[in-house]
Amino acid sequence: MSVDRPNVSEVMRVAREAAGRAYAPYSDFHVGAAVLTTGGKVYGGSNVENASYGLAICAERNAATTMAGTDPQDRKIRLVAIHSPDTAPCFPCGACRQFLREFDCEEVVVEGANGELLSYPFKEMLPNSFGPESL
Ligand code: THU
Repeated sequence: MSVDRPNVSEVMRVAREAAGRAYAPYSDFHVGAAVLTTGGKVYGGSNVENASYGLAICAERNAATTMAGTDPQDRKIRLVAIHSPDTAPCFPCGACRQFLREFDCEEVVVEGANGELLSYPFKEMLPNSFGPESL
């Protein structure tokens, strides 16, 4: 998969599949995400809830932690794709934006109401952000 011209549809397909594996018995709100690294790898994740509601983990963070724990040499996120069968477009929450920021996420792709892919530069999603360089 070319990183300069990523196959965004393929990444979104992984996100859609991940949404099908969401564990969301409390909210019944299903989310799937997939991150594409600058090295060309794709990692999916879904939201995972808990009887102690506040412990729910979002799809985006599950995808990003899988990436971060898999290959220490390939931890930069070229883009993240997000899908929910329950709302469109499904944008990442604030906590996930900050989490993705850690790994230099460049682009956010979501699906519009008709399934069209909508792309946003990450810097627009989290302007003036705090990151590793700030420390
Ligand atoms: N959720 C995500 O997985 N990603 C988001 O960006 C927004 C919210 C999940 C968390 C919770 O399991 C459910 O959606 C309802 O908030």
